[in-house]
Amino acid sequence: MSNILKKDFPVFEKAPCVYLDSAATAQRPYVVIDAVKEFYETMNANPLRGLYELSMAATQAYEEARECVADFIGAGSPGEIIFTRNATESLNLVAYSYALNFLKEGDEIVTTVMEHHSNMLPWQMAAEKIGAKLIYLEPGEDGTITEEEMDRKISPKCKLIAAAHVSNVLGCINPIKELADRVHKNGGVMVVDGAQSVPHMEVDVKELGADFLAFSGHKLMGPFGIGVLWAKRELLEAMPPFLRGGEMIEYVSLDGATWAELPHKFEAGTVNPSGAYGLMKAIGYLKDVGFDRIRKIEDELTARIFDAFSEMEYIHILGSDDPKKHTGIVSFTIDGVHPHDISSILDSENVDIRAGHHCAQPLMEYLGVMNTARASLYLYNDEEDVDAFVNMIRKVRGIMGYES
Ligand code: ALA
Repeated sequence: MSNILKKDFPVFEKAPCVYLDSAATAQRPYVVIDAVKEFYETMNANPLRGLYELSMAATQAYEEARECVADFIGAGSPGEIIFTRNATESLNLVAYSYALNFLKEGDEIVTTVMEHHSNMLPWQMAAEKIGAKLIYLEPGEDGTITEEEMDRKISPKCKLIAAAHVSNVLGCINPIKELADRVHKNGGVMVVDGAQSVPHMEVDVKELGADFLAFSGHKLMGPFGIGVLWAKRELLEAMPPFLRGGEMIEYVSLDGATWAELPHKFEAGTVNPSGAYGLMKAIGYLKDVGFDRIRKIEDELTARIFDAFSEMEYIHILGSDDPKKHTGIVSFTIDGVHPHDISSILDSENVDIRAGHHCAQPLMEYLGVMNTARASLYLYNDEEDVDAFVNMIRKVRGIMGYES
């Protein structure tokens, strides 16, 4: 059955494709594209500075977007929402501004081997600079981090845990609440990479038990170049600025400076109001569709891929055997065929998937694969997409010269 939501996305009419790479970036609906145009046509001025109507309109759009994001993830107040470029910048902000200042030599930082590089490299940097120990939780093959693994690796010295809410390779959902409870017992903080969860499931920062949550706008149909860091107010109040420059100050003298109130202390330089405005419209669109409908679409289509793949014994899916535990992400290998070749063959019929290490090289090494192919679903996909994808997959080994 085709998906009625497809008509909301101009790309499917103007550059027709079977798009199965939404974990890398989502397609944008008209409402988001039109909002960016509307911003530049009717509100374009530098926000937060001008005392004239156009600048105030830009400021209003920007701050309205912040309120929308705060409400979307259950933040205590809009002041806890910091706009960044993307999840990567948000996580680096936490590493530089929080970890370098509040952790000390001998403390332990715990993360997992399944992290995207953006939630691993900042902690490698921080651990090295602080003299802290970096410890990696190892999941089972299906991505599950067991109680025993947590017992083994999380000691009273652990003062920061950083974990993906959903793995961008395995699609599994990590036990954030349990991890948060453990680190909180030590007086530490829980940092959550929500890049792959916030667009796909209801995320409420209070229920999650997080202290920091990072995500990107472009994976939830917003514009590129706008990301979010949410953190508890008391943490943000205590943290020094990450970047210094325009509009993040209260007063500057030749001897130093004092900082602006939250959230502006963390938003140095000209911000991205058109991106924030577009993100607000994306969130509006997402809410209209609803997470129940999104989960149903993704789960049914993931199951359809699993069913088809089960007949091809040369295909190996990474992660859980249960399609419901994949959050619409199916990473796989085909015996004898490099994932780059799989992707190129599919591209010849405009079927778009990602192939490579998915910015998770340590996970690839841990699972004993160099690369994988990955199909990732979102709310606009349908059975026709999956069938086109599976039909191409059936041809791959033949095209590469295998008999079956
Ligand atoms: N983090 C994105 C992905 O997994 C780019 O593809």
